[in-house]
Amino acid sequence: MKTQITEMLGIEHPIVQGGMHFVGLAELAAAVSNAGGLGVITGLTQRTPELLAKEIARCREMTDKPFGVNLTFLPTVSSPDYPGYIKAIIEGGVKVVETAGNNPQKYLPALKEAGIKVIHKCTAVRHALKAEAIGCDAVSVDGFECGGHPGEDDVPNFILLPRAADVLKIPFLASGGMADGRSLVAALAMGADGINMGTRFIATQEAPVHANVKAAIVAASELDTRLVMRPLRNTERVLTNQAVERLLEKEKTLGANLKFEDILPEVAGVYPKIMQDGTMDAGAWSCGMVAGLIHDVPTVKDLIDRIMAEAHDIIGKRLARFDAA
Ligand SMILES: Cc1cc2nc3c(=O)[nH]c(=O)nc-3n(C[C@H](O)[C@H](O)[C@H](O)COP(=O)(O)O)c2cc1C
Repeated sequence: MKTQITEMLGIEHPIVQGGMHFVGLAELAAAVSNAGGLGVITGLTQRTPELLAKEIARCREMTDKPFGVNLTFLPTVSSPDYPGYIKAIIEGGVKVVETAGNNPQKYLPALKEAGIKVIHKCTAVRHALKAEAIGCDAVSVDGFECGGHPGEDDVPNFILLPRAADVLKIPFLASGGMADGRSLVAALAMGADGINMGTRFIATQEAPVHANVKAAIVAASELDTRLVMRPLRNTERVLTNQAVERLLEKEKTLGANLKFEDILPEVAGVYPKIMQDGTMDAGAWSCGMVAGLIHDVPTVKDLIDRIMAEAHDIIGKRLARFDAA
């Protein structure tokens, strides 16, 4: 299936794996790229630019296909060494970067000069237009359903994607709630040139996370996510658990007085405990509503092949039937 995204990124299928903290390691990125999609290493999971350089080299040993690196620009006080990470990406010969969070404008010239394609992930049409204006090559449009940070506008993909299609000139990926061939065909129908998936890729054989995480996603329904940190305007969609319910109780009790420090035990440094140790109640971790559509833990290749076969089947049979004279 050729789309503007497959052509731009040099990949076989229009399926991208979004950056995921403590999930997007070389193993998963390589598996997605080897299966014909675009795998993405999560930059900031590597504590230093030197470690990111090693992770890029490790991924290159596992695949000769293109893969990307996610750089999340956090609203933190003590900023990570972004110039160092960018240097590691350029020197590592990476050809695609997924940016997210704050505006990536400052770093675009260096990336573009190195011939790197930049896909900015955003949750609002106005931010997508801004990304286009500053020279990003594509955007990922992340709807309200998405795992992670859906922004503060709460616009679901059935509205957000056609809105993006109406105004954008650059191609875009539909992100948030994507799980199968139906998602891909619907995304294409709404004007996207491919899909970006997060949660679905965690429940795969190759995802380098504890089996408890995969089991929790398979067990969860679409009703099991919660929005946390809304009072801090840093909303995150997470899978509910004891820590999340405690966090929400604090938000209710403290109201407008809530500060980030109040919820540190539930959110700070919890990812290794969950993703590596499998201690599922250790804190709040991102998960999309799409968990309700995830019922198995296939290999990445089986998942991608299944999505593509289902998409072709829907287009060629179900949709063709409605189009018959
Ligand atoms: C566990 C987890 C961690 C994530 N970490 C990041 C991150 O560090 N940076 C980022 O840009 N997006 C992050 N995301 C968002 C994904 O890249 C993607 O946009 C999102 O999962 C899409 O929604 P879906 O889960 O419904 O597929 C994360 C998502 C999950 C589920």
